[in-house]
Amino acid sequence: MAKTSVVYVCQSCGWKSLKWVGRCGGCGEWDSTVEEYSNDSVGATSLSAVLDRQLPTPITEIKLQDCPCIEMGIGEFDRILGGGLVAGSAVLIGGTPGIGKSTLLLQVCQHVSQKGYTTLYVTGEESVAQTKLRAERLSVLSPKLLVVSETNLDFILENIHNTHPTLVVIDSIQMIYKPQLESSPGTVAQVRQCANELIFTAKSTGSAIFLVGHVTKQGIIAGPKVLEHMADTVLYFEGEKFQCYRILRVVKNRFGSTDEIGIFEMRKNGLHPVDNPSEIFISQGMRVSAGSTIIPCMEGTRALLVEIQALATKATFGMPERKVSGVDYNRVSMLLAILEKRIGLKLGGQDIFVNIVGGVHVYEPAADLGIAMTIASSFKEKPIPPDMVVIGEVGLGGEVRSVNQIEIRLKEAQRLGFKRAVIPKDNAKGLGKDFGIELIEICYLSEAVEIIG
Ligand code: TYD
Ligand code: MG
Repeated sequence: MAKTSVVYVCQSCGWKSLKWVGRCGGCGEWDSTVEEYSNDSVGATSLSAVLDRQLPTPITEIKLQDCPCIEMGIGEFDRILGGGLVAGSAVLIGGTPGIGKSTLLLQVCQHVSQKGYTTLYVTGEESVAQTKLRAERLSVLSPKLLVVSETNLDFILENIHNTHPTLVVIDSIQMIYKPQLESSPGTVAQVRQCANELIFTAKSTGSAIFLVGHVTKQGIIAGPKVLEHMADTVLYFEGEKFQCYRILRVVKNRFGSTDEIGIFEMRKNGLHPVDNPSEIFISQGMRVSAGSTIIPCMEGTRALLVEIQALATKATFGMPERKVSGVDYNRVSMLLAILEKRIGLKLGGQDIFVNIVGGVHVYEPAADLGIAMTIASSFKEKPIPPDMVVIGEVGLGGEVRSVNQIEIRLKEAQRLGFKRAVIPKDNAKGLGKDFGIELIEICYLSEAVEIIG
């Protein structure tokens, strides 16, 4: 008979201990270990157990199998996955409850099944009737879309083998359990084992699989980190701050680039891709006061125009406050020091607040010049012209350095009707003549601050 023993497993990192401990010896988290039963008879499924045994082959002789990439028909989603759904791939999608994961994946199933492929939607959280209600709201009614309400891993695997779906959705991985393991669903042991078997079944049958993962308070997918290693693609669905807008962010992708984002709008009949994302992050026609600048920043392969706002106001109590949102605090501190030392702005006694409108995060250095000019604009109470965008990295000497992808950034600015762009002189050299936008080339931050007046 198989031997069952008790181990204490950290639910954050999977670290194991034979005794209960208050603090995890792996990741240092407090009160994260949970009693689990390890059953020796349940070995990890390995790739070789599922696939035929393979021999090493010279790379030149490996034949590329017909590895179809199915376009799902949701532009924003296809683009961030690198063109579409790859057969046999595993995609992990995380997000807070109610953000729209089930809605999005049901819509994906609809698009794929409308193309004539079989899709299997496994719901562990709702009944099939509830899924049908949601599907009616989304007008997702195709006979090729199979729905099953199931949490037992063995039955799910059986269903996959019987129906040969092109796409399987598991909503959610934390609800699925393997009966042979004695731990409860959602524990590290269950999540790891179930994900492992599901992913290898997908690889061996050629079905693409989407695993929905819950996120923890810290905003990471609950369960072991190894879940992210196992998946080919990891996506996060975010958006509390945008009310109706949702951002699908790629954090890992074996078939395409990372840092891509897809933007969707939640309407009463489901999620709709946003075609002109730049427009939603710029407050239309309201930028008259000082302390606001538009910068074209790169999100993956695409430029997105975002508005930076800053407020510099005389500090009333002791230490001046510095608060930022959507930008790197240390970067802003550095820019404040440069503005003080190289430009001579007396910011030492000012409370400074910097914010990116719409809740986006901008961490690339190309935003430096925009942030510095916005702070200077607020301090001097002089607005930056509303038809101007600002691009450039600022060095400690106050010099403005070149940035990457300048042409894509300028094209996006021109498309949205901006007339002028402040850019680093070094970047201007390689540019073609006509961009339909007046280029103001600068070498130093002081020149940019002079533009404000
Ligand atoms: P859901 O997909 O259930 O979220 P998750 O699976 O990530 O927990 O989304 C639920 C929310 O979406 C809920 O607040 C209602 C809203 N919603 C719409 O606004 N329009 C719709 O068409 C649907 C189906 C849901
Ligand atoms: Mg759901």
